[in-house]
Amino acid sequence: METAKLLPDASGYTRASAILAEGGLVAFPTETVYGLGGDARNDMAVARIFEAKGRPRFNPLIVHVDSVETAKRYVEWSETADRMASAFWPGPLTMVLPIRHDTGLSPLVTAELPTLAIRVPEHPVARALLAEFDGPVAAPSANPSGKISPTTAEHVDKGLSGRIEAILDGGACGVGLESTILGLAGTPTLLRPGGLPVEALEQALGAELAIHQSGDPLTAPGQMTSHYAPGASIRLNATTLNAGEMLLGFGPVEPVEATMNLSPAGDLTEAAANLFHHLHAMDALGPETIAVSPIPDHGLGRAINDRLRRAAAPRP
Ligand code: TXA
Ligand code: MG
Repeated sequence: METAKLLPDASGYTRASAILAEGGLVAFPTETVYGLGGDARNDMAVARIFEAKGRPRFNPLIVHVDSVETAKRYVEWSETADRMASAFWPGPLTMVLPIRHDTGLSPLVTAELPTLAIRVPEHPVARALLAEFDGPVAAPSANPSGKISPTTAEHVDKGLSGRIEAILDGGACGVGLESTILGLAGTPTLLRPGGLPVEALEQALGAELAIHQSGDPLTAPGQMTSHYAPGASIRLNATTLNAGEMLLGFGPVEPVEATMNLSPAGDLTEAAANLFHHLHAMDALGPETIAVSPIPDHGLGRAINDRLRRAAAPRP
């Protein structure tokens, strides 16, 4: 199959929406990363998402909708959900809530869990596509399963070209890390740190979040330890450089040493936006090992360190 490259203009949206309506797959930008979208009500479309990514079927998908009103059709809404949505939607927050009965969603979306992950993205291209399609779009990150998430249309093309109908090119993603996932089916729990800093979430919640314990398959089935894996191996908290290594710097490291720098000024927002881009770019240079400077573990640094630990984890 030839993957069409669509521009974010009227004809691009019409075409993308028609592809979704026919059960095809369209990669599109969100403010976090590019998503691989399919009609969440269509079993065949959802099955093809898993196939295109090589993703295990037990790992459920996030459903993208245009508004809080639409979200309420699919999940059991709550006072807490309402407060979080008012504070952070549209934006880089996904909420996991009890799924309602008779939603019309494909059971493959949730991998038959009693909960649904749902989000209202902020990116204008995602919003325009959702408006044109006028239905729920299931979308994991648009990368082959286990690999680095895409923050540009070129990344998507490199990973999935020939396996999906189209890519809507909306340029580079602003946030650069996947959404923060908040579990609200029981005690508010951080299921995945991401593009919305945990501190902001806890402040709006007025409470500390429980942290998901990895290995609990029911709460976050997709949080495998090894993920975001580049071809090179990764060494964290590097303050010196060994033979055969390239340095991915953060802050004012020796410029001669750092092949790339996430943020020479030490800015975590800039580092988040650059993380996957730089990993893709350095990986293409083919080093044996990418050594990464220490990153402070607060704000977006928490999500950056989470992704780096998974990238560094032993591969299955
Ligand atoms: O920023 C993002 O979240 C991007 C954009 C495209 O929206 N999407 C994304 O999707 O990162 P994905 O599939 O790569 O990661 C979604 C994560 C997976 O780890 C999955 O296991 C988890 O969300 N998830 C989905 N449904 C869940 C549920 N009902 N309960 C717990 N975790 C769930
Ligand atoms: Mg992903």
